[in-house]
Amino acid sequence: MSGEMNDITEAPLLVAARGGRPSRTPVWFMRQAGRSLPEYRKLREGTAMLDACMDPEMVCEITLQPVRRHDVDGAILFSDIVVPLKAAGIDLDIVPGTGPVVAKPIATESDVLAIAELHEEQVRPVVDAIGLLNAELGDVPLIGFAGAPFTLASYLVEGGPSKHHERTKALMHGNPDLWHALLDRLAGITAEFLRVQVRAGVKAVQLFDSWAGALSERDYREFVLPHSTRVLQSIEGVPRIHFGVGTSELLPAMREAGADVVGVDWRTPLDVAVKRLQQAAPELPLPVVQGNLDPALLFAGLPALEREIERIKREGQAAAGHIFNLGHGVLPDTDPDVITRAVEMVHRTT
Ligand code: CP3
Repeated sequence: MSGEMNDITEAPLLVAARGGRPSRTPVWFMRQAGRSLPEYRKLREGTAMLDACMDPEMVCEITLQPVRRHDVDGAILFSDIVVPLKAAGIDLDIVPGTGPVVAKPIATESDVLAIAELHEEQVRPVVDAIGLLNAELGDVPLIGFAGAPFTLASYLVEGGPSKHHERTKALMHGNPDLWHALLDRLAGITAEFLRVQVRAGVKAVQLFDSWAGALSERDYREFVLPHSTRVLQSIEGVPRIHFGVGTSELLPAMREAGADVVGVDWRTPLDVAVKRLQQAAPELPLPVVQGNLDPALLFAGLPALEREIERIKREGQAAAGHIFNLGHGVLPDTDPDVITRAVEMVHRTT
């Protein structure tokens, strides 16, 4: 991560994001910074998650831990998708073992009207953390991120994590005007949070629409796509990655949102994903994809892991560029040494 400083725009991750074929397949893992690492668990002892996210030194150290350990080609800023919501004044907390919990779930017009805009000074610690990180990272690009309007809305409307998203879908269909007003406000916060990170110096951004796969393509297009499109189109100067889980049916619609890279979970082989993305928009250049190793494969033993990595790299050849990643985040019980070995395999195999 240190040593001679090259032109960062030539970093393998950024070359692949532009649709090129760099000298080695770039790899990073969603949730690479976090509970799989003993040094992370030690550092976080006694500090609440949202306090950790607002401590620039701690964010910097946690973000660097997997870069030191695994030789990954990207660093993902340690934070959470609810950080900008909390910063903008929404009363919520992250409860250990549960996830984000909202004090007063959104249900009425006055609840939506009470959601304020985000201002840069409210996320100053994140800006400071990015400054510290860029001084340390050398030629490893820092990836910023935010939650997409739909995934954020699900937490705010349900009041916490949800299996079926029933209140969210009820609001969407039962009161479409209020739904669009809510997503409009969330898109404003998300877009501003990403722009703040870009101004502070992140080299790429990822929009996490983790729960978009709960929607039909029709509903996604009507109730979500315009808002995610607005967010992505407001970002300039860095590659934009658009990610969701369970999105096999949504990939063409997600591409229309305009990101440079589309994330693919483990359910769809990359060559099939590329075909779907391309058929939907034959006038556009060949797509760039990110993914798509099943996080559970990190528990399957090294021979099985290597076979999967080889297959995914082969199928990824169908794309203009391929950023190797998991199909979703690192599971908390993953052996960190296996993550290191997986990175070696991605770099080594042809
Ligand atoms: O390793 C860890 O998970 C510990 C730190 C932590 C994060 N978020 C970091 C994070 C914790 C405890 C949370 C709370 C939280 N927030 C959870 C986990 C609940 C649990 O205990 O299992 C969840 C699901 C959220 C909401 C959330 N945050 C979503 C849906 C996403 C998008 C990514 C995804 O997993 O679908 C996030 C982003 C997030 N939270 C990241 C990190 C490090 C994203 C950046 C990355 O990929 O590293």
